[in-house]
Amino acid sequence: HERTYIMVKPDGVERGLVGEIIKRFENKGFQLVGLQLLSPTRKILEKHYEDLSSKPFFPGLMKYMISGPVVAMVWSGKGVVKSGRVLLGETNPLASLPGTIRGDFCIDVGRNLCHGSDSVENAEKEIALWFPHGLVPHERVIEKLIYE
Ligand code: GTP
Ligand code: MG
Repeated sequence: HERTYIMVKPDGVERGLVGEIIKRFENKGFQLVGLQLLSPTRKILEKHYEDLSSKPFFPGLMKYMISGPVVAMVWSGKGVVKSGRVLLGETNPLASLPGTIRGDFCIDVGRNLCHGSDSVENAEKEIALWFPHGLVPHERVIEKLIYE
């Protein structure tokens, strides 16, 4: 199956929304194959957001992301990159529909709770960056109940 990198940002951890966010991916049927609570270094954040380094909001983004621990996760499943972003909602939470994580729980783009990879290629890069020691792939008994 495809894999994606999902991260609960410092505001999500501090607000106690880690379980809620995990629950939505579990409910959907995706499989957790990597999970870690960590205080990200400036170095890893600069690498993660290197495409945004010239944006005016970049310094604020760094300050936000380094303000506390994050929960780094890898989820596996059919179409999980695109579907993961649907579960998260739009980048701007005010444009996110109710039923999405950002639509239900936040307001500002600079406090949007979570991150999701935007392509299969970037997902693999982000997984290598945040999980250099690898994942925990495992067989699921319920696989036949989730997929045709
Ligand atoms: P991620 O899943 O976090 O990568 O969001 P995204 O892919 O929907 O958006 P993008 O990668 O373009 O931006 C990454 C993050 O930078 C966003 O999630 C926001 O937290 C932040 N960001 C993006 N655009 C803005 C902006 O215009 N203003 C501010 N303050 N933050 C922004
Ligand atoms: Mg992005």
